[in-house]
Amino acid sequence: MNIDGKAWRTIWLETDQRSVGVIDQTQLPHRLITRTLESCDEAANAISTMVVRGAPLIGVTGAYGLMLALQDDPSNAALSQAFDQLNSSRPTAVNLRWALERVRELVKPLPEAERAAAARREAAVIADQDVAMCEAIGEHGFHLFRNLAEQRPSERENEPFRVLTHCNAGWLATVDWGTALAPIYKAHRAGLNIHVWVDETRPRNQGASLTAYELAREGVPHSVIVDNAGGHLMQHGLVDAVIVGTDRTTRCGDVCNKVGTYLKALAAYDNNVPFYVALPSSTIDWRIADGVAEIPIEARSEEEVTAIQGRILHGKSAGEIVRVQLTPDGCAGFNPAFDVTPARLVTALITDCGVTMASEVGLKDLYKRG
Ligand code: MRU
Repeated sequence: MNIDGKAWRTIWLETDQRSVGVIDQTQLPHRLITRTLESCDEAANAISTMVVRGAPLIGVTGAYGLMLALQDDPSNAALSQAFDQLNSSRPTAVNLRWALERVRELVKPLPEAERAAAARREAAVIADQDVAMCEAIGEHGFHLFRNLAEQRPSERENEPFRVLTHCNAGWLATVDWGTALAPIYKAHRAGLNIHVWVDETRPRNQGASLTAYELAREGVPHSVIVDNAGGHLMQHGLVDAVIVGTDRTTRCGDVCNKVGTYLKALAAYDNNVPFYVALPSSTIDWRIADGVAEIPIEARSEEEVTAIQGRILHGKSAGEIVRVQLTPDGCAGFNPAFDVTPARLVTALITDCGVTMASEVGLKDLYKRG
């Protein structure tokens, strides 16, 4: 996608063909800074500190992380250690394990001298495939949105088609396009009158900082709302559809996404608002069925809850990015980063292969699995 007229991806191989460039997402929306990752440690650290984040991007960073490890030491012991280090850097998004297993299985049978180059090629293929899958999600979701917009009663046809989204499942969460935001970009570029309600997404505010940043750069009309406003907007007919991403989807269609997604699904259900989840196939964990019981939920630092980051507006320090304390001294916090929305609350899954029911039958049919 474009930033000030220049096309960007979130991750790339640097010109030395050995190190990896990324956008530092902890500094957005106020500063566009890139970082260079030169070792497996740096890749693992970028994932755990959320310099890079979003399930598909975490997966691609993991794949490049194995390349970085193999450049330093191509032995089986180093491969296994790097796999474990990267795989544990964030536990919830299954794309990480998926990408790491894909690279590991490819390089394991190869002579040590060939491993790093093979990992480099495979990471690039994973990145390109992610872009293609996200663009396909965009096309499928756009057609669905256009149909929904056309089905509205005639007195509403001049109003924007209003979509609510939670967290950031845009191009910053992937390599390009995004998952939940891809249909929005496609719809906007095709001329559909669309408006996006952006949940701020406490505690880390990926909606207020990243989704709002992306939408502004594409010129998509949007308003940031507090996380608690969605139900109210739905009760007043101000939301035509909800669309979110997912970090792990079980084979039965339960979806695990940024904490707070479940509450939006409940409100959507109560108000008859369709609730869509957009995902590439790399987000499906075919090994598990029950999301609530089986998906590991990352618990992050309590400081993400008790403090907040922002830019100073006025005075001598205006422009500085700082963290400020919200709660009383010594106050405890608890910070589960994700929650699970059961399949029964999901109207449909929008995938790279098309739209399907959030169910084992729907997913198996779509991906032709026995
Ligand atoms: O903690 P984050 O910012 O990595 O969480 C990201 C999300 O929850 C996204 O919705 C999810 O990864 C799907 S991204 C296409």
